[in-house]
Amino acid sequence: MTDVTFILPDGTRRSCIAPEGLSLMEVALQNSVSGIIAECNGAAACATCHVIVDGSLAGSLDPVSEHENDMLDFTAAAREPGSRLSCQIRVDARLDGATIRVPAET
Ligand code: FES
Repeated sequence: MTDVTFILPDGTRRSCIAPEGLSLMEVALQNSVSGIIAECNGAAACATCHVIVDGSLAGSLDPVSEHENDMLDFTAAAREPGSRLSCQIRVDARLDGATIRVPAET
């Protein structure tokens, strides 16, 4: 199991046990993390699962695909360095201990 903490726009921290193989979006929904809506259920077609992955973790994850990159232009909150669609991030050991920010306005 992997421990992931979501930081909500108001600073609230939500620590979650993240089973490997799920997407980060699925972990967020299972734990009722507000701000992660996932209208398209993980098809990378809605951009309502926008999160920010900070620091060195961002560089260690699988790279953003061309399609994900295009969809990140449609997030409700402004795109930032480290912006990702949480449905496109699979949980594995690289995420253990990670903090993932949920931007405002998602
Ligand atoms: S759930 Fe729709 S883009 Fe991630």
